[in-house]
Amino acid sequence: MGKTIIISNRLPIQLQIHNGGITAVPSVGGLATGMKSVHSGGDSLWIGWSGLTDEDIPEELAGDIDEALAKHGSSKVKLTIKEVDGFYYGFSNRTIWPLFHYFLEYSEFELESWEIYKNVNQKFADAIVEKANEDDTIWVHDYQLMLVPQMVKEKLPNISIGFFLHIPFPSFEIFRTLPWREEILKGLLGSDLIGFHTYDYERHFLSSVRRILGLEVSFNDIYLENRIIKVDSFPMGIDYKKFSDAAKEHQQRSPENQSELQQRLNKHKKSTPDAKFLLSIDRLDYSKGIAKRLNAFEYFLKKYPQYKEKVRLIILAVPSRSNVPQYQLLKKEIDELVGRINGEFSTVSWTPIWYFYRSMPFENLIDLYTSCDIAWLTPIRDGMNLVAKEFIATRTDKTGVLILSEMAGSANEMNESLLINPNNFEQIADTIKQAINMPIEEQQERNNVLQKRLARYNVEKWANDFMTSLKNQKEKSHSYV
Ligand code: UDP
Ligand code: G6P
Repeated sequence: MGKTIIISNRLPIQLQIHNGGITAVPSVGGLATGMKSVHSGGDSLWIGWSGLTDEDIPEELAGDIDEALAKHGSSKVKLTIKEVDGFYYGFSNRTIWPLFHYFLEYSEFELESWEIYKNVNQKFADAIVEKANEDDTIWVHDYQLMLVPQMVKEKLPNISIGFFLHIPFPSFEIFRTLPWREEILKGLLGSDLIGFHTYDYERHFLSSVRRILGLEVSFNDIYLENRIIKVDSFPMGIDYKKFSDAAKEHQQRSPENQSELQQRLNKHKKSTPDAKFLLSIDRLDYSKGIAKRLNAFEYFLKKYPQYKEKVRLIILAVPSRSNVPQYQLLKKEIDELVGRINGEFSTVSWTPIWYFYRSMPFENLIDLYTSCDIAWLTPIRDGMNLVAKEFIATRTDKTGVLILSEMAGSANEMNESLLINPNNFEQIADTIKQAINMPIEEQQERNNVLQKRLARYNVEKWANDFMTSLKNQKEKSHSYV
């Protein structure tokens, strides 16, 4: 039995160079936070980009970089500034990300960044081939590396390759607009198993394979030359125990051992005991619907003015992909909206929106999850949304209300939350009112069901299901030959 090689653009940590020394910070985003738990529990090697470009790394630090990564079971793929621009800021985040999230008008189709995407995918594939034996299992992650499966299969035809897409796969009508649609599909079909978060994404993918490549598809098997490729949905879970244990530990802390943030939250709770805290946590990304959420909050305050001074919205927006113009524009829009709404509604004793633009350590995420009354997540389109699951896992007394966009993959598994359409301000305003007034017993009933489900289908189970399915598929494909 060989080892598992995980491969993704983001490693579990990002390296930074400060005053000639290397520091490692945890990566943000569902892929990194979820896979980190899988990786640390097993015997795997994780290959990815360190977050530094070749130009950032002085020669004398090259060895230290490898050492810092090795401590996290990781190994790097080296990228130049030009490669990061074309591959990461370019094709991955200015073409595929907007297109796959149905932001067609944001998608740029540039030949140069496509060429760099191909070259960088080849670099990742070469890094795998260099480290892999034929009995290893390769698990490739996400939209930045969609050509890697085929590139590896060419060099190591018998190796087992799984691919998981962490973002939505769009409908055929959207996907067909991509000039390199055939190459992307063929790249993915180098895998033995292709996984998606939801059945809808799986269906969209199969339909594109059928209509663009004309391949035979039977149920969720694709027949390609002498191989059978399986396509299936595996909704990603969270490390449930990590979140619920952290919340339990948090509750037992004496006031002097609480974080500064928690102490501030306590102070505000004490000064306005009937005010409800609404919380949202996302990377600052247009797919998350943050600007719409702010507008909807204003709409709510106007529709139900009796809740002025009775609600407070805490927004944690984590800086993300800030070299991409759409993200810079969005940052400006959000800054302005927060300023305008606070300017319009604030009173001497009340500021309706608290806005943090930074990433927070795990401990502070737990402070926020456990201190709020309502988590309000309104993505316009989201592959999964793990924040929704993390919030529920931290509610040890089972209180709290989750308002979740039906456009998030996680909505499929979280029917007991209050599901909303992020474009329907009327419905959102009414749902916030409903959440504020929801009896404790009802909150507990809903969360009890959600918690049981999330605890059972945790990230470990997700990874095991995927790996078992990959193993079975490989055997089936062999006997087909
Ligand atoms: N997160 C984090 N630091 C922060 C804010 C969020 O590590 O300051 C984590 C959060 O706990 C979650 C992930 O980032 O695990 C976000 O994943 P999600 O699936 O919600 O969205 P994505 O960013 O992958 O689109
Ligand atoms: C999403 C993507 C991941 C990505 C993460 C953070 O979760 O599916 O592949 O790592 O966002 O984005 P970033 O561009 O910082 O890696």
